[in-house]
Amino acid sequence: MPRDLGVVLEEWKCLEEEYQQLLETHRLYLQKLEEISKLQKNCSSTILSQRSKLKDLSQLVKKCSKGSLEEDAKTLDGINEKIKTRPNSFFEMEAFLPNKNGLYLSLVLGNVNVTLLSKQSKFSYKDEYEKFKLCLTVILLLFSFMCYFFTNYRFLDAILNFLLVWYYCTLTLRESILITNGSRIKGWWVFHHYISAFLSGVMLTWPDGDLYKTFRNQFLAYSLYQNFVQCLQCYYQSGCLYRLRALGERHNMDLTVEGFQSWMWKGLTFLLPFLFFGHFWQLFNSISLFRMSRLPDCKEWQVWMCGLCFLILFMGNFFTTVAVVRHKVKSRIRKPKSL
Ligand code: COA
Repeated sequence: MPRDLGVVLEEWKCLEEEYQQLLETHRLYLQKLEEISKLQKNCSSTILSQRSKLKDLSQLVKKCSKGSLEEDAKTLDGINEKIKTRPNSFFEMEAFLPNKNGLYLSLVLGNVNVTLLSKQSKFSYKDEYEKFKLCLTVILLLFSFMCYFFTNYRFLDAILNFLLVWYYCTLTLRESILITNGSRIKGWWVFHHYISAFLSGVMLTWPDGDLYKTFRNQFLAYSLYQNFVQCLQCYYQSGCLYRLRALGERHNMDLTVEGFQSWMWKGLTFLLPFLFFGHFWQLFNSISLFRMSRLPDCKEWQVWMCGLCFLILFMGNFFTTVAVVRHKVKSRIRKPKSL
């Protein structure tokens, strides 16, 4: 037998053994996947039936507690308290189970499963989302800077507005995926991105003319400022994310809950004046546009439409931010040592 053939046969034997091992591992993998999918179905259907049973039970508890003895009332109160905590626990469980997509995700992506099944992958998705936001914000900041200081072409403004439309549409998608994965993003911020996408779309269609030129610099300066504030906001939010992850991962914590809270408060009190200034700038834009729309030579519908969008953005941003801060202050006073 020639020497080369011997080498080939030897090599083939090794490969064949490795391949058989791979087949076995893959078979095991498929078996586990099937087991996982059975467990997922089991958990989801149990959660569903628990929910409906708890609803019935809480009505029964209400009925029973009317006119019950003191001892029985205490037992019923105990059950009631436990019933109230269950929805939170179900919510946490569902974050690790495949969920049906909401209307928006079903329309855009179809019925594909977007639930990430481990804490690690949820964190990395959120981390990647924050990095994407920061990266795009820096690009938009530089673009607005260039349009404001160096150029005066309508087509460059159009590219900026197109970039904004694309950016906000992408955010709505990513945020819907984050919400499916258990993020507590308030509905307003998602709605804010729909309105901002619409606003940028309307700005894109605003024809070049005297009125456009009058508002152009104010809009570019606002865009510059907003992107600057968003950079600060991204820094604050990814800081919160890293610290929360460190808190969750370490048993022997060198980062404490109080440490996290004091960092969060420092960050928030630094950020808030910038945010509120931005909100009032939105109000100012809205007032300027409404005034402009009353001018006799104003024929463009884009003027009052942009004014309306800025007004909605101002109201939503201002009231939601106040509500978020009020909630944080309240929970800080109530339980100073917890998250
Ligand atoms: N966009 C996207 N996600 C947001 C968000 C926003 N504006 N504000 C909060 N979230 C997310 C958080 O990342 C968090 O997600 P998680 O559950 O996946 O961790 C969740 O919503 C809950 O956050 P919350 O604890 O309520 O707030 P926070 O401490 O992360 O941020 C503020 C608080 C006030 C800094 C933030 O809400 C904010 O920046 N608001 C102002 C935005 C604004 O007005 N922009 C226009 C500027 S001109």
